[in-house]
Amino acid sequence: MQLLDGKAISSQIKFEIKNEVEAWIANGGKKPHLAAILVGADGASETYVASKIRSCEEIGFTSTLLRFGPEISEKELLEAVEGLNNDADVDGFIVQLPLPKHISENTIMEAVSPAKDVDGFHPVNVGKMCKGLPAYISATPFGILEMLIRAKIETSGKHCVVIGRSQIVGLPMSILMQRNEYPGNCTVTITHSKTQNLKEICQTADILIVALGRPEFVTADYVKEGAVVIDVGITRVVDETKKSGFAIKGDVNFNDVAPKASYITPVPGGVGLMTICGLLTNTFKAAKKEIY
Ligand code: GUN
Repeated sequence: MQLLDGKAISSQIKFEIKNEVEAWIANGGKKPHLAAILVGADGASETYVASKIRSCEEIGFTSTLLRFGPEISEKELLEAVEGLNNDADVDGFIVQLPLPKHISENTIMEAVSPAKDVDGFHPVNVGKMCKGLPAYISATPFGILEMLIRAKIETSGKHCVVIGRSQIVGLPMSILMQRNEYPGNCTVTITHSKTQNLKEICQTADILIVALGRPEFVTADYVKEGAVVIDVGITRVVDETKKSGFAIKGDVNFNDVAPKASYITPVPGGVGLMTICGLLTNTFKAAKKEIY
């Protein structure tokens, strides 16, 4: 079993982007600028956004955080989005999800200019990705592809099973894994809460991507000997023994599954750390006007 070490791979990618940004600026390029909108005070969102902002500082980007209270109206949030769309200094921005219930996430996502949509959530970017055209690929799928590439994992002709059909992970991941390029060329099965015989389907997976948000759901009996297991789950569970009061659990029971896997991602220290690299890569592409 080989560990797909998100900590090591993400540090390497950040190091590479930092060097590229230095060269870009030395050649007269503009310092990339990422902005983030954070609504409310959700603990997990606070942590993610803080980490995104910190990563920007580390690799030489400018970052801006716009915070709003949970009572902000959809109209006011749309105005904030429009402000960033029209701010020539901001190359790309994200609206951290989830949003309060009275705000439509789809409406907000569609209001972001596709050219600045470094999360890759706008329908134009999703559509371009589906057609294999240059587009911002969202952060988690980007992180998974990058792990497969850097570990030189063969994907062509393999059966890839994706558990979960979310707009952010499961759906784009299934599209990307069947593309006619590396990493891709898989035969893909996308599964979800209504799937029958889930365990039997998973047992036929050469590459199993688990993104359903149920801690330690996948046990050894779901996994074929020698499979590549990618765990996208990050659920906070109460753990009194931890200083923070919680522990992070993946969707895969790591200790149970690891002996059967050829490659496996740990949680924490796996896919989660890779996602920020996707965001930083997209922001740099936006600054270089590589896609739009
Ligand atoms: N919430 C959970 N993951 C993400 C993400 O990748 N982007 C944004 N904007 N919100 C999220």
